[in-house]
Amino acid sequence: MSRGANKPTSAAPVVLPSARLVLPVRPRRLRATAAIREMVAETALAPAQLIQPLFVTGGAVNEPVASLPGVSRLPLAALGAHCRRLAALGIRGVALFPKIDPALKTADGREALNPETLVLRATREIKAAAGDALLVFNDIALDPYTTHGHDGVLSARGGDDVDNDATVAVLAEMAVLNAAAGADFVAPSDMMDGRVAAIRAALDAAGHERAGIMAYSAKFASCYYGPFREAVGAGGGGGATGGAISKAGYQLAPGNRREALREACLDEQEGADIVMVKPAGPYLDIIRDVRERAGVPVAAYQVSGEYAQIHAAAERGWLDLRRTRDEALLAIRRAGADLILTYFAEAWARDYA
Ligand code: PBG
Repeated sequence: MSRGANKPTSAAPVVLPSARLVLPVRPRRLRATAAIREMVAETALAPAQLIQPLFVTGGAVNEPVASLPGVSRLPLAALGAHCRRLAALGIRGVALFPKIDPALKTADGREALNPETLVLRATREIKAAAGDALLVFNDIALDPYTTHGHDGVLSARGGDDVDNDATVAVLAEMAVLNAAAGADFVAPSDMMDGRVAAIRAALDAAGHERAGIMAYSAKFASCYYGPFREAVGAGGGGGATGGAISKAGYQLAPGNRREALREACLDEQEGADIVMVKPAGPYLDIIRDVRERAGVPVAAYQVSGEYAQIHAAAERGWLDLRRTRDEALLAIRRAGADLILTYFAEAWARDYA
């Protein structure tokens, strides 16, 4: 017997006649080429749907934020040129967050009402440089201004208890100052009850009926804000320790879906022009719920911790930065967000605009 007789005879592919399935419905036909995939894409993202958060410093030079790779606090003098570049990329909005000199912080956060405070100077700078090409969204909350890092003034009860009505009164005044400086939208991020109605009334009484309100409506008490708190120097340090103070007395519990929807509905009734869900990626179901019920545009904030975790994994070579970024943003759109606040806005627009 020759050795060849024992060789396997199956080197050539075996094609059984029965391999052709009788299958009139083949969904893969719509995924066969790049052209057909592009044609049937259900979700798209455009630079005009992105809002770039910007940190502002009173210092003279860029200050990199360690836990947010690629993000720096910008000095006033750099803002005009920076914002014109963003507008040229097709981005239509920035959200401003000031880093306040610790010497100016007080328990009541009164620096927020200083007519020359950093964020108001920054707003004038940007509006002078970019005009109507770029909308400016100004955060309305006291956390950059208070020694304790809470979003409002503390009550006599002590602990982490923020006095709702006293805080709303200050925020309404703060909103008027921001609109007067040129903010196109004020964005209350404090989660106090009744603040949207109070801010709307105060803006209208001061003749700022054109200024809009983007309400942080479903804002969760999240550990994903850690790097942000480092960036603005609020809440007892940044990075992993940024969750040191508890905002659970006003921000939503992460497990509460029904309550999130209730907050968004209330803010719309009170006059919010845009409602927001925050964070975004871990709360896609909330974005979908709010999109289905609200009659106004829905924004989602992909927060500092979401950005930081993608960068951290990419730095270790564990994820591809660009593809993870793009997938995360697309998923937020698919969930129902009309607008996305994201630290990736500029980089994304550079890649696709
Ligand atoms: C504060 C505010 C926070 C963010 C935006 N506005 C932090 C907080 O509530 O503690 C977080 C944004 C981010 O993490 O990127 N009013």
